[in-house]
Amino acid sequence: MNLEKIREEISEHALEIVIHRSVLCYPSSFSFVDGLLEANKPKKILEIGTYNCVSALVFARYPFVERIWTLDIVQSPVIARLRRHLDHERKITPLLVKGNVSDKSAIVGNLNCDFAFIDGDHTYEGVSVDIEVVIPKIPNVLFHDAKEAGVKKALDELEAKGTHNINRCMDFAFARKI
Ligand SMILES: C[S@@+](CC[C@H](N)C(=O)[O-])C[C@H]1O[C@@H](n2cnc3c(N)ncnc32)[C@H](O)[C@@H]1O
Repeated sequence: MNLEKIREEISEHALEIVIHRSVLCYPSSFSFVDGLLEANKPKKILEIGTYNCVSALVFARYPFVERIWTLDIVQSPVIARLRRHLDHERKITPLLVKGNVSDKSAIVGNLNCDFAFIDGDHTYEGVSVDIEVVIPKIPNVLFHDAKEAGVKKALDELEAKGTHNINRCMDFAFARKI
Protein backbone atom coordinates (compact mmCIF):
# COMPACT_ATOMS: atom_id res chain seq x y z
CA MET A 1 0.00 0.00 0.00
CA ASN A 2 1.13 3.54 -0.78
CA LEU A 3 0.20 6.04 1.93
CA GLU A 4 0.46 9.05 -0.40
CA LYS A 5 -2.02 7.42 -2.81
CA ILE A 6 -4.43 6.61 0.01
CA ARG A 7 -4.21 10.20 1.30
CA GLU A 8 -4.80 11.58 -2.19
CA GLU A 9 -7.88 9.40 -2.74
CA ILE A 10 -9.36 10.17 0.66
CA SER A 11 -8.88 13.89 0.22
CA GLU A 12 -10.46 13.82 -3.25
CA HIS A 13 -13.46 12.11 -1.63
CA ALA A 14 -13.54 14.80 1.09
CA LEU A 15 -13.63 17.50 -1.60
CA GLU A 16 -16.60 15.76 -3.22
CA ILE A 17 -18.41 15.91 0.13
CA VAL A 18 -17.57 19.60 0.53
CA ILE A 19 -18.98 20.34 -2.91
CA HIS A 20 -22.16 18.32 -2.48
CA ARG A 21 -22.91 19.94 0.89
CA SER A 22 -22.60 23.47 -0.40
CA VAL A 23 -25.96 25.21 -0.66
CA LEU A 24 -25.66 26.25 -4.31
CA CYS A 25 -25.07 22.63 -5.25
CA TYR A 26 -28.53 21.56 -4.02
CA PRO A 27 -30.66 21.30 -7.19
CA SER A 28 -33.56 23.42 -5.86
CA SER A 29 -31.26 26.13 -4.49
CA PHE A 30 -29.23 26.13 -7.67
CA SER A 31 -32.28 26.52 -9.85
CA PHE A 32 -33.50 29.56 -7.85
CA VAL A 33 -30.10 31.25 -7.79
CA ASP A 34 -29.41 30.37 -11.43
CA GLY A 35 -32.65 32.14 -12.38
CA LEU A 36 -31.62 35.25 -10.44
CA LEU A 37 -28.17 35.30 -11.99
CA GLU A 38 -29.45 34.79 -15.53
CA ALA A 39 -32.07 37.51 -15.04
CA ASN A 40 -29.68 40.06 -13.54
CA LYS A 41 -26.39 39.09 -15.18
CA PRO A 42 -24.19 40.57 -12.44
CA LYS A 43 -20.65 41.50 -13.37
CA LYS A 44 -19.13 41.99 -9.94
CA ILE A 45 -20.25 39.89 -6.99
CA LEU A 46 -19.56 40.27 -3.29
CA GLU A 47 -20.08 37.20 -1.11
CA ILE A 48 -20.00 37.38 2.68
CA GLY A 49 -19.26 33.95 4.15
CA THR A 50 -16.72 32.22 1.91
CA TYR A 51 -16.55 28.96 3.86
CA ASN A 52 -15.02 26.51 1.34
CA CYS A 53 -15.48 28.86 -1.62
CA VAL A 54 -17.89 26.53 -3.43
CA SER A 55 -20.57 29.18 -4.02
CA ALA A 56 -17.96 31.56 -5.40
CA LEU A 57 -16.77 28.82 -7.72
CA VAL A 58 -20.36 28.32 -8.93
CA PHE A 59 -20.74 32.09 -9.54
CA ALA A 60 -17.43 32.15 -11.38
CA ARG A 61 -18.67 29.79 -14.06
CA TYR A 62 -21.14 32.35 -15.44
CA PRO A 63 -19.55 34.10 -18.42
CA PHE A 64 -21.02 37.51 -17.54
CA VAL A 65 -19.50 37.39 -14.01
CA GLU A 66 -16.16 39.16 -14.18
CA ARG A 67 -15.03 39.30 -10.54
CA ILE A 68 -16.03 37.88 -7.18
CA TRP A 69 -14.79 39.07 -3.82
CA THR A 70 -15.64 36.74 -0.99
CA LEU A 71 -15.15 37.67 2.67
CA ASP A 72 -14.78 35.48 5.74
CA ILE A 73 -13.46 35.87 9.25
CA VAL A 74 -11.52 32.58 9.01
CA GLN A 75 -9.47 30.93 6.29
CA SER A 76 -10.77 27.60 4.98
CA PRO A 77 -8.08 24.93 4.60
CA VAL A 78 -9.70 23.42 1.51
CA ILE A 79 -10.00 26.54 -0.68
CA ALA A 80 -6.59 26.07 -2.25
CA ARG A 81 -7.37 22.46 -3.11
CA LEU A 82 -10.78 23.24 -4.62
CA ARG A 83 -9.46 26.14 -6.67
CA ARG A 84 -6.72 23.97 -8.14
CA HIS A 85 -9.36 21.84 -9.85
CA LEU A 86 -11.21 24.56 -11.68
CA ASP A 87 -10.53 26.94 -14.53
CA HIS A 88 -12.36 29.98 -13.27
CA GLU A 89 -10.42 30.67 -10.10
CA ARG A 90 -8.77 33.79 -11.44
CA LYS A 91 -12.06 35.68 -11.04
CA ILE A 92 -12.20 35.02 -7.28
CA THR A 93 -10.50 37.02 -4.54
CA PRO A 94 -11.08 35.52 -1.07
CA LEU A 95 -10.38 38.07 1.66
CA LEU A 96 -10.13 37.74 5.41
CA VAL A 97 -12.00 40.38 7.40
CA LYS A 98 -12.98 41.20 10.93
CA GLY A 99 -16.71 40.98 11.57
CA ASN A 100 -17.22 44.70 12.18
CA VAL A 101 -18.78 47.41 10.01
CA SER A 102 -15.66 49.53 9.57
CA ASP A 103 -13.43 46.69 8.39
CA LYS A 104 -16.01 45.38 5.92
CA SER A 105 -17.02 48.87 4.71
CA ALA A 106 -13.39 49.71 3.94
CA ILE A 107 -13.35 46.78 1.52
CA VAL A 108 -16.86 46.84 0.09
CA GLY A 109 -16.93 50.61 -0.43
CA ASN A 110 -14.45 50.49 -3.30
CA LEU A 111 -15.55 47.38 -5.15
CA ASN A 112 -18.54 48.66 -7.16
CA CYS A 113 -20.34 45.31 -6.99
CA ASP A 114 -23.78 44.90 -8.55
CA PHE A 115 -24.81 41.71 -6.70
CA ALA A 116 -24.15 40.40 -3.19
CA PHE A 117 -24.67 37.04 -1.51
CA ILE A 118 -24.90 37.34 2.28
CA ASP A 119 -24.25 33.98 3.94
CA GLY A 120 -21.96 34.74 6.87
CA ASP A 121 -22.94 35.36 10.48
CA HIS A 122 -26.63 34.46 10.73
CA THR A 123 -27.27 36.12 14.08
CA TYR A 124 -29.39 39.29 14.08
CA GLU A 125 -26.36 41.38 15.07
CA GLY A 126 -24.13 39.74 12.47
CA VAL A 127 -26.50 40.03 9.54
CA SER A 128 -27.36 43.60 10.58
CA VAL A 129 -23.68 44.49 10.18
CA ASP A 130 -23.70 42.99 6.69
CA ILE A 131 -26.91 44.83 5.77
CA GLU A 132 -25.45 48.12 7.00
CA VAL A 133 -22.34 47.56 4.88
CA VAL A 134 -23.91 46.13 1.73
CA ILE A 135 -27.37 47.61 1.28
CA PRO A 136 -26.27 51.22 0.58
CA LYS A 137 -23.70 50.04 -1.97
CA ILE A 138 -25.15 47.06 -3.86
CA PRO A 139 -28.59 47.08 -5.55
CA ASN A 140 -29.29 43.32 -5.66
CA VAL A 141 -28.66 41.32 -2.49
CA LEU A 142 -29.34 37.62 -1.98
CA PHE A 143 -29.52 36.26 1.58
CA HIS A 144 -29.21 32.60 2.55
CA ASP A 145 -30.82 31.09 5.67
CA ALA A 146 -33.43 33.82 5.49
CA LYS A 147 -35.81 31.82 7.71
CA GLU A 148 -33.35 31.77 10.61
CA ALA A 149 -34.67 34.00 13.39
CA GLY A 150 -31.86 36.59 13.30
CA VAL A 151 -31.76 36.86 9.53
CA LYS A 152 -35.56 37.01 9.30
CA LYS A 153 -35.74 39.81 11.90
CA ALA A 154 -33.12 41.87 10.08
CA LEU A 155 -34.87 41.29 6.74
CA ASP A 156 -38.26 42.24 8.18
CA GLU A 157 -36.71 45.51 9.38
CA LEU A 158 -35.23 46.15 5.95
CA GLU A 159 -38.58 45.45 4.29
CA ALA A 160 -40.36 47.82 6.71
CA LYS A 161 -38.14 50.68 5.52
CA GLY A 162 -39.76 50.40 2.07
CA THR A 163 -36.51 50.85 0.16
CA HIS A 164 -36.36 47.30 -1.20
CA ASN A 165 -38.64 44.65 -2.66
CA ILE A 166 -37.96 41.38 -0.89
CA ASN A 167 -38.71 38.09 -2.62
CA ARG A 168 -38.51 35.12 -0.24
CA CYS A 169 -38.09 31.61 -1.66
CA MET A 170 -37.11 28.47 0.27
CA ASP A 171 -34.21 29.48 2.54
CA PHE A 172 -33.36 32.50 0.40
CA ALA A 173 -34.47 36.12 0.29
CA PHE A 174 -33.63 38.43 -2.60
CA ALA A 175 -33.64 42.14 -1.83
CA ARG A 176 -33.81 44.50 -4.81
CA LYS A 177 -33.52 48.25 -4.43
CA ILE A 178 -36.75 50.03 -5.43
C1 LIG B 1 -22.73 28.97 5.87
S1 LIG B 1 -21.03 29.29 5.67
C2 LIG B 1 -20.94 30.02 4.08
C3 LIG B 1 -21.17 29.02 2.97
C4 LIG B 1 -20.79 29.53 1.60
N1 LIG B 1 -21.46 30.79 1.28
C5 LIG B 1 -21.19 28.49 0.58
O1 LIG B 1 -22.28 28.60 0.02
O2 LIG B 1 -20.41 27.55 0.35
C6 LIG B 1 -20.83 30.66 6.74
C7 LIG B 1 -19.43 31.26 6.72
O3 LIG B 1 -19.53 32.57 7.26
C8 LIG B 1 -18.37 32.84 7.99
N2 LIG B 1 -18.64 33.93 8.92
C9 LIG B 1 -19.11 33.86 10.19
N3 LIG B 1 -19.24 35.09 10.72
C10 LIG B 1 -18.85 35.96 9.75
C11 LIG B 1 -18.77 37.37 9.69
N4 LIG B 1 -19.11 38.14 10.72
N5 LIG B 1 -18.33 37.93 8.54
C12 LIG B 1 -17.97 37.15 7.48
N6 LIG B 1 -18.05 35.81 7.47
C13 LIG B 1 -18.48 35.23 8.61
C14 LIG B 1 -18.03 31.52 8.65
O4 LIG B 1 -16.65 31.47 9.01
C15 LIG B 1 -18.40 30.51 7.55
O5 LIG B 1 -17.28 30.21 6.76
